[in-house]
Amino acid sequence: MKTEYQFLTPDIIDKIEEYRKEFPYYPQQLIIPALHEILYKYRDIPEDAIFELADYLKVHPSEVEGIVSFYDMFRHKKNAKNHIRICRNLPCHLGKYKNLLKMIEKLTGAKAGKSSEDGKWYIELVECIGSCSLAPAFLINDDLYDGSQIKNEEDLKNILHKYT
Ligand code: FES
Repeated sequence: MKTEYQFLTPDIIDKIEEYRKEFPYYPQQLIIPALHEILYKYRDIPEDAIFELADYLKVHPSEVEGIVSFYDMFRHKKNAKNHIRICRNLPCHLGKYKNLLKMIEKLTGAKAGKSSEDGKWYIELVECIGSCSLAPAFLINDDLYDGSQIKNEEDLKNILHKYT
């Protein structure tokens, strides 16, 4: 095991060790919480972080890579400065997420699944984000928004403006 890592910084290692107290038996149980910490810090999962995490947990890199490639949220590459996730499941569908999506696409210049040309925005359609009462719910980076409160482009512009 290396003592110094580029991406597995001491604060992330401290968090992993906290999780280890709860899940002391199998290092595989620490992979997902550790990936969340890496994602939280870097907004993506750098390729080298996978090898560093595997080295630290003493698991095979394919065990980490398998999880990263299975879950959309653990994306390898930062697509843009800001990541917008819009829920498309039934409650948000009934809450007219498509109208919200159209407005967001128009104001950001990004399209669902694609970044804007200026590199500021990436839009992703996702499954339930656990906030159905806010339908159509969406996230900008880690901030959760209630789409039902957005009545017009002006409301949305005020939100987007915080991220530019
Ligand atoms: S269905 Fe959209 S947040 Fe749950």
